[in-house]
Amino acid sequence: MSKQQNYDVLIIGSGGAGLSLALKLADQYQVAVLSKFALTEGSTFYAQGGISAVLDSQQASIESHIKDTIISGAGLCDPDIVRLTVEYGKQSIDFLHQQGMEFTGRKNKQGETELHLNQEGGHSERRIVHHADATGKSLSLSLIDKATQHPNITLLEHHNAIDLITAHKLGFKQQRVLGVYVLDTLSNQVKTMSANTVAIATGGANKVYLYTTNPQISTGDGVALAWRAGCRIANMEFMQFHPTCLFHPDGHSFLISEAVRGEGGKLILPDGSPFMQHYDSRAELAPRDIVARAIDHQIKKHGLDCVYLDISHKPADFIKSHFPSIYKQCLKLNIDITQEPIPVVPAAHYTCGGVMTDSYARTDIAGLYAIGEVAHTGLHGANRMASNSLLECLVFAERASEDILRQDHSHPIPTIPDWDESQVIDSEEEIMIAHNWDELRRFMWDYVGIVRSTQRLLRAKHRLEILKNEISDYYQHYRINSDLLELRNLVIVADLIIRSALARKESRGLHYTQDYPELDETQSAKNTILTPPPE
Ligand code: FAD
Ligand code: SIN
Repeated sequence: MSKQQNYDVLIIGSGGAGLSLALKLADQYQVAVLSKFALTEGSTFYAQGGISAVLDSQQASIESHIKDTIISGAGLCDPDIVRLTVEYGKQSIDFLHQQGMEFTGRKNKQGETELHLNQEGGHSERRIVHHADATGKSLSLSLIDKATQHPNITLLEHHNAIDLITAHKLGFKQQRVLGVYVLDTLSNQVKTMSANTVAIATGGANKVYLYTTNPQISTGDGVALAWRAGCRIANMEFMQFHPTCLFHPDGHSFLISEAVRGEGGKLILPDGSPFMQHYDSRAELAPRDIVARAIDHQIKKHGLDCVYLDISHKPADFIKSHFPSIYKQCLKLNIDITQEPIPVVPAAHYTCGGVMTDSYARTDIAGLYAIGEVAHTGLHGANRMASNSLLECLVFAERASEDILRQDHSHPIPTIPDWDESQVIDSEEEIMIAHNWDELRRFMWDYVGIVRSTQRLLRAKHRLEILKNEISDYYQHYRINSDLLELRNLVIVADLIIRSALARKESRGLHYTQDYPELDETQSAKNTILTPPPE
């Protein structure tokens, strides 16, 4: 008996992008939202600094946000997309208010709430709305709360999207999405889910690196799914390393928000001397690529484990009220940030490239949308400016919803063959998966990290070829599980990053290579666009 489940819209991902889209469509459509683990497990929940958005009606404020974004993007932002995104800022924050999200602010004399605005690297003005240093938690919980209450939204936790189902793959001429094969990881069953519209909202791919600020789910599944289905992928060489991740042998990876530098935090060496002024006139508030590279340089030059971020010159009450989560997390590890500097290192944080979309989040395949960190909209160029990511999630959820609401959803969906497990057996060699996961993430960190060279990239490419063959062979013979699915996706993502990095013969934004240390001024800036081979 066929296990096919039908929805109007299927959204892969329950982060800020996926849930916003679900809420915008649910009054009209039956929507299912898939989440690989618990609903909260995505980067959105862990976001700290906030959401950049111009809330006043001054044209100058809009122009300034546009200008800062374009400067950070090092010549590769799409100016139309930047303008569109910035202009949707206020409406996006209004949407969050409607969902019940709380922001940090206070009442003025007229009794109106004035939101507090953070500042972060690359921003020439304060324009980042936030909820203390736990903006993502507040955003996630309010969206989850609303989605849980909506009768037309089905939330499916522990459902891992394996592959997109397209008409082309079933032998039809047209290239249209029909649904998704999904592994229910609690029952271990593969389900066939069909829909006229599918949105990929799977977040980033930063788990491809050994050290990352991201949660477990960020394995680039959406990029790999879209690539296998035939979508173009752009600018994967621009992987962003956040300058300040807590360094502690016993601590889980934990971000120290850029807002700490926005409030005057200084980067120092173990002897207390500051160093950012040697790298950029904006010092601690230079864009992320510059700060992360400066720290990497200092660590390598002095043979250090980490550098330090010091905010202890500010009053203790100020620190505790602005950064309550960071304060508590550090204190658990016996670091009192009101008294002493915080040990920090850079870590992989954000995927600027992704599935190519237009201004309505449409991909190359009819009916298939990509929103949030998984997408390449053209907003970030070669380096995302801080706090522009949550804004992009909200704006492109809105844009996708505008387009989806205009579509005819009455296409009949053919019967889709069920997942075929007749040719595979249970694995007796799970160690292969664990070993290859570790190996991949280590060589990506060592060879495809903050500072690259052609020789290091070729070394990584060589190792990757061996892993690719092993994993493909394993996938064909053994029953799937979540770890195998993620590994299969990570090798595709790693391959796309390495190929894109090798293709760029210059240093620009987040891509820095010792063989071409300068920006290539002789040609106009180009995106790196990779097209899947024809089947
Ligand atoms: P996510 O929130 O990552 O959600 C992805 C969803 O996809 C999850 O539900 C996951 O389960 C699901 N998923 C993935 N693969 C599959 C699959 N195969 N099958 C089913 N489901 C799947 N940006 C800002 O603008 N401001 C900030 O202050 C900020 N702070 C940050 C702090 C941290 C620690 C981190 C890690 C990131 C931060 N960012 C910040 C970046 C920002 O949080 C993310 O880019 C953004 O939240 C991504 O949202 P998303 O909805 O695209 O993906
Ligand atoms: C931070 O709070 O430093 C993260 C902000 C971001 O990634 O945009």
